[in-house]
Amino acid sequence: MAEMIVTPWEVKGEIDYDKLLADFGLKKIDDKLKKRLEKKLGDNMFLRRNIFFAHRDLDWLLDEYDKKNHFHLYTGRGPSGHTHLGHLLPWIFTKQLQEAYNAKLVFQLTDDEKFLFSPALSVKDVEKFTDENILDIIAVGFDQKKTEIYTDLRNAKSFYPQAVRVAKHITFSTAKAVFGFENESNIGKIFFTSMQAVPAFIESVKTGKNVPCLIPHAIDQDPHFRVTRDILPKLGYYKPSSIQCKFIPGLGKGGKMSSSEPETCIFTVDSAKDIERKIKNAFTGGQETLEEQKRLGGNPDICPIYQYFYNLFEEDDKKLLDRFKRCKGGKLMCGDCKKDLIPRVQKFMKEHQARREKAKKTFDKFLVKE
Ligand code: TYM
Repeated sequence: MAEMIVTPWEVKGEIDYDKLLADFGLKKIDDKLKKRLEKKLGDNMFLRRNIFFAHRDLDWLLDEYDKKNHFHLYTGRGPSGHTHLGHLLPWIFTKQLQEAYNAKLVFQLTDDEKFLFSPALSVKDVEKFTDENILDIIAVGFDQKKTEIYTDLRNAKSFYPQAVRVAKHITFSTAKAVFGFENESNIGKIFFTSMQAVPAFIESVKTGKNVPCLIPHAIDQDPHFRVTRDILPKLGYYKPSSIQCKFIPGLGKGGKMSSSEPETCIFTVDSAKDIERKIKNAFTGGQETLEEQKRLGGNPDICPIYQYFYNLFEEDDKKLLDRFKRCKGGKLMCGDCKKDLIPRVQKFMKEHQARREKAKKTFDKFLVKE
């Protein structure tokens, strides 16, 4: 297996989450913290299954909440292509947090980032995906009265003056050490993390009060917030808290779901036929032949099909365990398992796409105009 690489722009190899926790300096969500969250969220599959599994200063944030110092949420998307299932996972959890804590959400689209980091994309391409992605964000079901969507380019008037305050405290050597930039990297990339820091304190700037912030995201984005957390106290704001999830894998062998390999990715604009084709062609943890599968059993631990049931498409723990055991015991064939998954994903996407269509009507209401 290839060496593990996890940066905000590249995720490769077999992911060792314990090593990542140690390397990034994150804390595991322990039972006590889980219970505290469940008091508000209720029974939650993402927590129960350790899909959201790590955090920074979440206990502090909840202490503040208990003292009526309420937090706002902040999450985001880099609009380099269509939204896929992987992106939806942290957003669905963010929506659950919004409902449970009655929290305002600041949603950032980093159109500048995707222009600077993707050699093939023009500003026009990125703008197109920004609008497409906003439909998906709205379709997740965030409360319009409590959600503000910003894009870095369109909201430059409010973002840039704040980003320079952050940038003044970040040296080139810090940016190199955290993100691996080189002398050949364009200078926009080096500045960029200052833009991703802004939504963590824009509420404080706008309200004139120090407002705690919680950032749900997959673990690849953590390096940005490590830097943000170092800087914000220097500007007089709280360090943002964060909560991290693991990755939904792609339909190929290893790695996270990533738009750079479209056939291994389920997009929100895929048709029922696309979904069927992609899942039918997917890598599995199965054996070479049916005879071997019956004799040796499959390996759900490395199987993306099983992971989709685990992460999104089988809420019932008993049924999930039964699937796991039947696979391992050679009783469940990969073709049949795929046949079970296909209609669930198709139904999920059909419903999402109907909400996505409706979102065209409310699109403008979510955007921050300046
Ligand atoms: P982006 O667009 O790469 O990803 C959007 C969100 O989806 C998460 N993610 C995944 N989660 C589970 N499984 C996957 N396979 C998977 N792939 C991506 C990402 O971690 C992210 O939470 N620079 C950011 C945009 C951004 C942002 C933020 C993200 C701006 N501010 C604050 C999170 C929080 C980006 O390009 O994300």
